[in-house]
Formats: sequence, C-alpha cells, structure tokens
Amino acid sequence: MTLKLLSFNKSRKAMNEMEKETLPGVTLLGSTGSVGRQTLEVIDLHRNRFQVVALAAWGGHMDLLQEQVNRFRPPLVVVGDPSKAQGISLPSETQLLTGIEGMVKAATHTKTKVVVAAMVGISGLTAVYEALKMGKRVALANKETLVAGGQVIMNLVKKGTGELIPVDSEHSALFQCLMGHSKKDVKHLWLTASGGPFLDLSSEDMTNVSPSMALAHPVWNMGPKITIDSATLMNKGLEVIEAHWLFSIDPSHIRVVIHPQGVIHSLVEFKDGALLAQMGPPDMRVPISYALGFPERLKSGVKPLDLTRCPPLTFQEPDFKRFPLLHLAYEALKMGGTTPTALNAANEMAVEAFLAEKITFPQLPQVVEGVLKDWQSTPADSLETVKEADQDARYKAQKLIKQITNS
Ligand SMILES: NC(=O)c1ccc[n+]([C@@H]2O[C@H](COP(=O)([O-])OP(=O)(O)OC[C@H]3O[C@@H](n4cnc5c(N)ncnc54)[C@H](OP(=O)(O)O)[C@@H]3O)[C@@H](O)[C@H]2O)c1
Repeated sequence: MTLKLLSFNKSRKAMNEMEKETLPGVTLLGSTGSVGRQTLEVIDLHRNRFQVVALAAWGGHMDLLQEQVNRFRPPLVVVGDPSKAQGISLPSETQLLTGIEGMVKAATHTKTKVVVAAMVGISGLTAVYEALKMGKRVALANKETLVAGGQVIMNLVKKGTGELIPVDSEHSALFQCLMGHSKKDVKHLWLTASGGPFLDLSSEDMTNVSPSMALAHPVWNMGPKITIDSATLMNKGLEVIEAHWLFSIDPSHIRVVIHPQGVIHSLVEFKDGALLAQMGPPDMRVPISYALGFPERLKSGVKPLDLTRCPPLTFQEPDFKRFPLLHLAYEALKMGGTTPTALNAANEMAVEAFLAEKITFPQLPQVVEGVLKDWQSTPADSLETVKEADQDARYKAQKLIKQITNS
C-alpha cells in the first residue's frame, strides 16, 4: 500500500512537471527591481498558467535574486555583471548565464513566450529587439528602449514579428482606451502625471533639492532612476516619446496633464469630444497582469478603487519653465532621428551624477540641454546607429558633468 502510494506520488509529481513544461514561459528581465518583484507577485497568483523560464538581474541585489531562484526554480538565471555571478547558488537543473548576451539568450529561449522587460535604462534595447525578432510577446515596462530605439523596435513590430504590450501604467491605460477604436477618430492622447514631489516648489527652492528629497515620490514606489525622472518630469517627457512610437501619433496630438491623485492613469480624447479614461489604484500589478494575460484579464491581487472614498480628482497644466526636461523631450521628438536617443543617454548620465551628488537638481536639465545643443541627428534606423548615438551622447554628457563638477 505504502509502495503504491509512493509510486502514485512520484508519477503525480512527474505529471505536474510535464504540465508545467507546457505552460507559457515567462522570461523576466530585471526581476529584482520594483516592476520585476511585482511581476513575480502576479505570476505567483497564476502558477498554473505560467512557468518562469528565466530570471535576470544585474547583480545589485544578489540575496533577493537567490530568494527568487529558490522560489521559482527557473531553468535559466542571468546575472548581468559577470563579477557578481559567483554570489549565487543554483539548483543542479538551472543554467547560469551572464552579460547582455545572457539576457538575449534568455529572452529568445524556445520556452519563452512572454518577455517582461523590466530592466532600467537602455540596457534593455538589445534583448527586446532580439525577442521581438524571434516572435515573442514583449511586456514592456522599460520605456528607455522605445525612447532610444523607437523606430528600430516599431519597424519589427510593424513587420508582424513579435508583439509589444505596454506595461507603463499610462500606456497600458491608453492601450485599453484605444481598444476597438480607429486611430483616425483620436484627437489627443492625454498622459496624466502625478507631478512628483516638487509640483509646487519654486525654481529657487529647487536648487536645494537633495537626492533623498527627490526619491520621496508622493504616489508611486519605484526604482531610483524613474523616481528622479518623475521629480524632474522627464519621466513624462520619455512617456510622450514612448506614446508616439507605440500608438503612431504625432507629438502635437500628445498632451500632458498634471493629476496629483494618480487615479486616472491616462485618457484618450476622440473627435466627437468624448474622453475615455482608465482608472484604478496606482498599482503596477494591474498593467503587469493585463500585459501577461492579454486579451484576457487576470487577477492581479490589487484591491479595487473604492469610488466613495476616492479623493477629489484635480487636473492642472504642467509648468514647462520649472520643468524644462519635459519641454526638451518634446523638442527632441520633433527633431527626430537619433535626438531622442541622445536625450535619453544624457538624462541617464545626469540622473546617475545627481544620485552620486556630483551635480545639483537644476543641473540635470543643463546636462541634457548641453548634449542636445549641437547634436547632429542622423536616422535612427538600425540597432548599430542607435547604440553609436547612445555612446556618443554619453561621452558628451560625461564631459559636461566633469566641467560642472570642476567649476
Ligand atoms: N517602478 C515602476 O513602478 C515603473 C512604472 C512604469 C515603468 N517603469 C519602468 O520599468 C523599468 C524598471 O523600473 P524599476 O522601477 O523596476 O527599476 P529598478 O527598481 O531600479 O529595477 C531595475 C532592474 O533592472 C536591473 N538592472 C539594472 N541595471 C541593469 C543593466 N545594466 N542591465 C540589465 N538589467 C539591469 C536591476 O538589477 P539589480 O537589482 O541586480 O541591480 C533590477 O532588477 C524602467 O525602465 C522604468 O522606467 C517602472
């Protein structure tokens, strides 16, 4: 009897393993970050629907990556920085990969159906590009990829290889509001912005802003890079560019409105005057679960918004003078070519320098403006051109940061 039960349990386990093998595979790039952790929370609610094929991180939070590996036991683990890779102990069946090549291998693996791109900065570009080329669904949180390489990425999507579903909450909202509508009926896309922690701060007071003050976002709990971008409103500028590429809408039809409560995640204005909005609590698990399950809606674990307890919803125009990076993003998009690539690279460098306390808050736009001033834009129509432009802009930004630091 005991023997029979044992062999029954064994074959049951084998069956479970076989069933798991046939579930759609998810590769999660940036698993230790804010979006990455929330993606695993959603997947945890749907263990019978998805299998985690790969977990990838850079190497900054190895203890957390270890916990995630122990919990999800993926066949692949990627540590971006090879020097950190010794710090992990893996089950015998798990393969360890490193570097950007490792990220690409994980993103293009045969078992991978969905790639959640939740890494930060332009580091995501190559893996997203290769995943789309292999026909994968990319659930894109990593907006810098589209800002820097929008044309290259969208050319692939237009060719019908791969599928891009936005995870950025504003773009997920627009994607949902546009569903079933024709683009010719759209008058404006309205991106909402919380306004960040310095919404009402004067330009003079911004000179005294420290990294810790800028990292205290009033609505969202996010990684450091996007939190600083939210404080400067560059995040909204990057999102304007992201929306242009995702929905193929002219920049003059993309507007930003400040909505401090963060309840409406964005809106579409149609020709007939109708405005469709997507609302909900400010919680990334909603757009993450939407992108994973699309076109089906999955449970996200999020408590729905209680409309009777909802604060009054307010809206105001953004102040382009106090937040010049938003204006620069619109300008870069209008100039086109590699200018948004340069904008993104300069901004990444400036944010890093601000967090390291090398430059002040008002110097963030100075670095970006300095790089864009003499920028010679070329068509951003290949991965190589985009990468070259990115490197060039980084070099220029580095020089400017040095000049600022030494002055
Ligand atoms: N957080 C949000 O609520 C939110 C909302 C909308 C959009 N987004 C976008 O989603 C992306 C991720 O944001 P986040 O807030 O989750 O960032 P985060 O908390 O800083 O996490 C970033 C993740 O990327 C990894 N990473 C860092 N440098 C990398 C590199 N060079 N190559 C590959 N991976 C690298 C990190 O690994 P280590 O931990 O090992 O360093 C970490 O897993 C960003 O593009 C952001 O704009 C975020």
